[in-house]
Amino acid sequence: AQLHTLALQAGKKYFGTATDNPELTNTAYVSQLGNKTDFGQLTPTNSMKWDATEPSRGTFTFSGGDAIVAQAQKAGQLIRGHNCVWHQQLPSWVTSGNFDNATLASIVQNHCSTLVGHYKGEILSWDVINDRINEHTLPEPFNDDGTFRTSVFFTTMGTSFIPIALRTARAADPAAKLYINDFNIESSGPKSTALISLVKSLKTQGVPIDGIGVQTHLIVGEVPSSFQATLQAYADLGVEVAITELDIRMTLPATQALLEQQQRDYQTVISACKNVQGCVGVTIWDWTDKFSWVPGTFAGQGAACPWDENFVKKLAYQGIVAGW
Ligand code: XIL
Repeated sequence: AQLHTLALQAGKKYFGTATDNPELTNTAYVSQLGNKTDFGQLTPTNSMKWDATEPSRGTFTFSGGDAIVAQAQKAGQLIRGHNCVWHQQLPSWVTSGNFDNATLASIVQNHCSTLVGHYKGEILSWDVINDRINEHTLPEPFNDDGTFRTSVFFTTMGTSFIPIALRTARAADPAAKLYINDFNIESSGPKSTALISLVKSLKTQGVPIDGIGVQTHLIVGEVPSSFQATLQAYADLGVEVAITELDIRMTLPATQALLEQQQRDYQTVISACKNVQGCVGVTIWDWTDKFSWVPGTFAGQGAACPWDENFVKKLAYQGIVAGW
């Protein structure tokens, strides 16, 4: 059996993959991308981000996102929206506009409302908050010590961009599940603790929040021992949990021992989602090493995906099968 089929049998909504527009010109790639027994869900890697969708103020372009949505719909796949508010891949008019709090709030509202509204009825879940604040460290709303990162949003608006974006997204598409999606929240520690208190506080204030996205960009041999317990702690808040950007990288060259460890690591991650009832699905951050973001971002590292650069299944694929 194959990956999405197995996820459904485990009671999940999907197993899926991220994909990006330039890749859609590769016919062998698109053929496997549309294989619904492996992938029941797609996430656009880049084409729904702010720089792609509102490159100048009030001017929206959805052609890239629309192409991914069309590809998914043709194959009968669910779609995760990614993302409304993030500190990265912002056009300079946002980062350098020197807007005051009220103006930036209206900019965030207009962006989320137009973006989410454009795809109303087509998106299973949205990564509404994907923010990171220190421009030079790792993504998303918190620093690893649990304090908020400084982004243009946090610096100008404090934490108010979070409820504003979530409420706006809810109004724009009431059927979509709204997520906070973050990085380095795969183990218990200050950052996961901060996230848990944020979600509790949003719920207390009546702010719509339906899910926590755990990105899960991991390193071979380093799946945190508290991974499953951490997913469970998020689910215990009464929200959905999804593994949203899974890949497990290694220092190149890939050796047999590393690939075998990677197989075990993929199995561990998948079985953690399987074992946590509130974990609704898993998305890999592209399925082939040919189009992985890892080598371009982490020098000397790669081979993070379940298929190699020639679209041949690696041992990691068998790890996912075993995990489900
Ligand atoms: C990455 C894409 O894969 C790259 O193509 C792009 O150059 C940078 O962004 N966390 C996220 C994703 O939420 O949007 C990032 O995707 C990877 C880290």
